[in-house]
Amino acid sequence: TILVLDFGSQYTHLITRRLRELNIYSELLPCTQKIQDLTWKPKGVILSGGPYSVYAPGAPHVDPAVFTLDVPILGICYGLQELAWHHGKNVLAGEKREYGHAALQIQRHSGKQAHVDRLFEGLPDDTEVWMSHGDKLSKMPDGFLTVATTQNSAFAGIAHEKKEYYGIQFHPEVTHTPKGTQLIRNFAVNICKARQDWNMGAFVDKEIARIRALVGDKGQVIGAVSGGVDSTVAAKLMQEAIGDRFHAVLVDNGVLRKDEAKQVKKTLTAGLGINLNVVDASELFLGRLQGVADPEKKRKIIGNTFIDCFQEKAHEIAEAAANTPRAGKIEWFLQGTLYPDVIESISFKGPSATIKTHHNVGGLPAKMGLKLIEPLRELFKDEVRELGTSLGIPEELVWRHPFPGPGIAVRIIGDVTAEKVRIVQEADQIFIEEIRAAGLYREISQAFAALMEGKAVGVVGDQRLHGHIIALRAVVTSDFMTADAFEFDKSFLRKVKNRIGNEVAGVARVLYEITSKPPATIEFE
Ligand code: XMP
Repeated sequence: TILVLDFGSQYTHLITRRLRELNIYSELLPCTQKIQDLTWKPKGVILSGGPYSVYAPGAPHVDPAVFTLDVPILGICYGLQELAWHHGKNVLAGEKREYGHAALQIQRHSGKQAHVDRLFEGLPDDTEVWMSHGDKLSKMPDGFLTVATTQNSAFAGIAHEKKEYYGIQFHPEVTHTPKGTQLIRNFAVNICKARQDWNMGAFVDKEIARIRALVGDKGQVIGAVSGGVDSTVAAKLMQEAIGDRFHAVLVDNGVLRKDEAKQVKKTLTAGLGINLNVVDASELFLGRLQGVADPEKKRKIIGNTFIDCFQEKAHEIAEAAANTPRAGKIEWFLQGTLYPDVIESISFKGPSATIKTHHNVGGLPAKMGLKLIEPLRELFKDEVRELGTSLGIPEELVWRHPFPGPGIAVRIIGDVTAEKVRIVQEADQIFIEEIRAAGLYREISQAFAALMEGKAVGVVGDQRLHGHIIALRAVVTSDFMTADAFEFDKSFLRKVKNRIGNEVAGVARVLYEITSKPPATIEFE
């Protein structure tokens, strides 16, 4: 195991991710972790970057006992400053903040000193790295040698003459440092001799054990599922850990995809054995949405109605559970939060504070007096997919396009009616069916049909039709922050247009939306 101590850099989780990619198990703990409280001995320690200056009052510092562990240590960015601070306190703020690409020159050593170059083994003498820091060393700390430089820094890489301590000013964990993984491998595998036997199966075992310990023998957990990959994977993990003491709730808000609630019920219950409760609240939602055209109002109504329905169901489940002798109270709320959902901003409040806080909680667990359980909070999307596959979740679900919480309501411009929802659902189903048939589903990040406001004129047979306008949207993106419209063949679009025209009653026109994000968003509202 490699111990990663987190000083709050936005990149820290990428370090653990890179280690996982190398099949190495790591534990990520706050930088203030007391070494004597560890129940295990790490094979090596990585000190992450962080947003502070080591000389600032209140700046976090690692427990000096880390230097008595007698294991290799790699300090990245702030971690390098920390190494220096503990070895002579020579750091000075850099004259200019360095941010972005830099050319790294590796200084090779020979003879007795050759071992200091082990971190850079197999890397070219000139290599591109990513910098993001304010402080830089002004002088070499006691006992260290320069192993790499950049134009702006004579100490971009340092290594201890005798001990296996290494400091680097740049970030090897980001993809902007192309040889970064090799460097992390050099440290973890060659220098620390960490075992490369970690895999998703090991993650599942560890997480199940953690959930069981947290929840106890009788504890019960409740959580919402949507049919998306994150909530399904989280739910399946809970089911494996505590069986029916996990209660999944699916609220059918009437603006889901066509037959979605039925299909989710089938997959989760029959397929995955999850204890699922479906609340059919379509009429309640559509009633409250009646005549509301403002997108933010629609979102609010759907959010609040969801909370009402969920709470009511939770209450019902809790009452039933209270009558089961083998089970205790529902005290936990499952949330499928992934690492990218975890807020990047950091508040450092002293030795015992947790460093990162959360958003995206929606206030629901707190309102219900429930504690949060988040089994996916260290993982990235692709890792969740891999985990889902290893838990036996069907491929179709694992690779599902994202679907917004407010559903089709934000894909209908203007007010929402049952008739408009039907039209969008049917058109959407045809569009997605054809995308799958053409083998394009995975190439596209998100695709859907939406309904424009107003009507247009058409002719069906000899009849004049005053019908609805469907817009199709398909985008390609890696992070959903920016996106490009997918370029279909004309024949593909013509086919989808024909099918929608023939099969969906009430549609007069079919448009294809080509605006990228920005300036547009992915959804229409
Ligand atoms: P936009 O439209 O902002 O969408 O470019 C980016 C991604 O977020 C999804 N999205 C939402 N998801 N509640 C959600 O749960 C929402 O209110 C919401 N709005 C947008 C959208 O589907 C896309 O994947």
